[in-house]
Order: sequence, then C-alpha cells, then structure tokens
Amino acid sequence: MEEHGVFAAILASGDNTFKYYSEGEWKVSTSGKSVPIINPTTRKTQFKVQACTQEEVNKVMESAKNAQKSWAKTPLWKRAELLHKAAAILKDHKKPIAECLVKEIAKPAKDAATEVVRSGDLVSYCAEEGVRILGEGKFLVSDSFPGNERTKYCLTSKVPLGVVLAIPPFNYPVNLAVSKIAPALIAGNSLVLKPPTQGAVSALHMVHCFHLAGFPKGVISCVTGKGSEIGDFLTMHPGVNCISFTGGDTGIAISRKAGMIPLQMELGGKDACIILEDADLDLAAASIVKGGFSYSGQRCTAVKVVLVMESIADTLVKKVNEKLGKLTVGPPENDCDITPVVTESSANFIESLVMDAKKKGATFCQEYKREGNLIWPLLLDNVKPEMRIAWEEPFGPVLPVIRIGNAEEGIHHCNASNFGLQGCIFTKDINKAMLISDAMETGTVQINSAPARGPDHFPFQGLKDSGIGSQGVASSINMMTKIKSTVINLPTPSYAMG
Ligand code: G3H
Repeated sequence: MEEHGVFAAILASGDNTFKYYSEGEWKVSTSGKSVPIINPTTRKTQFKVQACTQEEVNKVMESAKNAQKSWAKTPLWKRAELLHKAAAILKDHKKPIAECLVKEIAKPAKDAATEVVRSGDLVSYCAEEGVRILGEGKFLVSDSFPGNERTKYCLTSKVPLGVVLAIPPFNYPVNLAVSKIAPALIAGNSLVLKPPTQGAVSALHMVHCFHLAGFPKGVISCVTGKGSEIGDFLTMHPGVNCISFTGGDTGIAISRKAGMIPLQMELGGKDACIILEDADLDLAAASIVKGGFSYSGQRCTAVKVVLVMESIADTLVKKVNEKLGKLTVGPPENDCDITPVVTESSANFIESLVMDAKKKGATFCQEYKREGNLIWPLLLDNVKPEMRIAWEEPFGPVLPVIRIGNAEEGIHHCNASNFGLQGCIFTKDINKAMLISDAMETGTVQINSAPARGPDHFPFQGLKDSGIGSQGVASSINMMTKIKSTVINLPTPSYAMG
C-alpha cells in the first residue's frame, strides 16, 4: 500500500479494488460484489469498484440531508476556504489521478494531466465566484408596481436547494464532476456523486482530495455500482433536491422520471462546422482536426459534421487529410493523439456508422482500420443526408463532410438535427457570421474556432435533445440555489419630509 501514498485509504484490497465514500469514511459495500472497470487499451480488468446496495444509497442520502443543514450555516468564506484547499490538494496529486484517467478511459497522458489541473482551477474559481454571487442579494420597494405605496421592502438572497446529485460522464470523470461539486458546495448544498463506471477510480481519487481538505462528514459522498441496481433508485430518490447530469440520452430518461426538482442536463451534440468561401482554410482545417479528433472525438463538443461550400471543399478536404496523416495512433501512455475508444460496444457502434456510410456511397479519404477499441482517424467525404452518420453522434475519430451550395443549406442541416449543443462558422465576414450564428439553433456558436465548453466560467448550454439549463461556474451556482425573500411590511408612510 506504501506506493499509493495518501490514496492507500481508498483501496479495499491489494487487487486494485476501491472503496466508496459515505459519512466521511471509505467503506466496503455489504453487497460483497464489485463492478469491473475494463482498460480500453488492454481490454482487461484494470480496477474494481464497490457495487453499492440501495440500503447504502439510503444511508448516504440520509447523511447528506443531515450534513447539509449545518453546512448551509457554515460561513460562506469558510466554505470557500475549504474549496481552495481541496483545489490545491487536487493539483498536488495530478500525477496519480492522471494515471488513473489514462488506464480507465484511455485519455492521452498530457490531456489527462490537463484535466486534473483544469479541475483544480475550476474549483478555486468557483469558490471566488461563489463568494461574490452569494454575498449579494436584492432590495426591492413596492411602489414601482402600479397601485402600491412604498410600504413594502423585499429583501432577497440565494439559499441552497438541499442535496445535489451529480452524475458526470466517462470522458471527463474529474472535470465534469467538480464542475457540479464545487458550485453545489459553495452554495451550501451537500453533494452525492455517482461517477461513471469507466472513470470511477479517477473520481474516487478526486473525492479523496475533498476528504483530505477536511469537509465535514456527509457534505460530499460518492457511491459506485451498477446502473441497473442503483441508477433509477438514485435519480428518483425522494432525498434528492437537484440533479446535474452530463452524458448521453440516459439524461432524457432521467428527466422524464425525476420529480419536481431543478435539472441541469448536458447531453449529446452533433456540432456542425460551416465553412464559407472566404474562410481561412488553414485555420478551418486545423480547427476541424483539433475539434473533431482530440480525445478521439469523444467530446460532446467535438466537431461532428463539416458543412463546406462546394467551391472550396476539395481544398479543405486536402488540408484536413494532410493534418490527419500526421496524427499519432496508439496507446494513451505514449500520449498518442488517437487512442482506443472507451468500450468495445462504442467501437462497434462507430463501425456500424462507418459501414452504413460505405454502403450508401460515402468517399473514404483513408482506409478504415480498427484493432480492438482503437480506430484510426477517418474523414468521410460526400456524405449525404440519407446516411446515419450525417445525423448520429459517433463519439469516435470519424468525421463526415457534407458539401453545400449555400449557407442556408448549412443552417438547415444544423437546425434539422435533434441536437443543439454548439456549432461553428468559418468566414472573414463578421456580419455574415453574426447572421448565421443567430439562425443556428444551438446553445453556443463559435466564430472561427472549433466548439468547446471552456473556459469553464463561460455559460454552456444545449437546446433540444442536447440538454436543459446552463452550466459554467456562475450559471451552475445560480441553478443550484433558489431565491428566498423576506418582506418587511410598513405602516402607511407617515414621517413628514424636511
Ligand atoms: O463532452 C462534453 C464536454 O462538456 C466537452 O468539454 O469542450 O472542454 O471538451 P470540452
């Protein structure tokens, strides 16, 4: 255990099985069962996590509810101080956490380290922003509304919701966990985390950093286990007062089942990249490769369809192919650009989209190649609307190009999608860019850059099947609070002026 340092406490046994975190303690589930985590590169079991029971979930919920009451009364500056402490511990332990990310989700080594640092920065920023946002309220007077005298003063402040349930996805198990944890905690909520199976061990390490920072017991908890056993049980639990979820269309099912509680949902995307004739094609090609292929396309904000004007399509496709040829393909430990996708079923799904496109006549710019979960980068040109890949999200290193005759066709394709997360436009004409941006039904439009969530304080939201609510530090703090008003009723004004 010596080599695990401070993280020895979260290990259940020498065989890489990890505990769950409840009531401020690391515990082994009474189920006696565990859930295996398969390394996407070796396709062998890398780690195991506890298969928590519904009773254990009940216990976690109860302690979260009890702890929240005194946590909400803890002075805001003290809550911020603890978050700053957790952020520093997280960044100090970037190496072991990044190593877990590499093994669990095959994130390239450098990107894994970046995720941990970005997460520490997010936690600190949230503490700072929380102190400002929550340190202010409003003062309203009644006589601005017709028929009223100045006899009522209304004081408002933001108060916590209670227990927030956070469910992050596999692709950012640390960063998209803290993007929910930090706003919830600074606002005085307690937090229950259900990490994705793939990514759970990285998340457990991150939670231990909060434990080491000294958060009171029950303020943060983390349960692991099978979705079939505790998934619905958690999301429909009467003790949950808010759900913040990032992931696929499971989020739609959760939204239908959840009770009358605020929901923050970040689901899929089919981010369109519209390239006009006057675009800087070197910039566009570089952005398409970075936006479409970083972390092997497994980002909700990845460029997922290129809509390029026919007159410049050949030149753009050539430039993109040149850059794709330079990407390294292999294991995440070697910091390759393209690494194995997260599961075999993901790889099979990606392959099914590729084969459908092949059958329907798409032009393959590279030969399709797959070994295990590793899929070589592939650009598909001349994709047509009848191909599944024109609409579905591969979440892999495979990108369709659709040639368009005018900007309206691009806007039409973007808006015909069920998704509406982000989109981007490449042009030198800012007026056209603004008009197209206005016409695109997406939560964000990037002008002359690929879609992206960060910097993490920017608002981030999707329309349609891409989600509910807005994320980003300030948006999340606001979403995880409610307004509380106190009205002072005065007698009819009687003091004489002067
Ligand atoms: O996968 C969804 C993430 O929110 C995308 O974040 O744009 O920082 O990669 P990113």
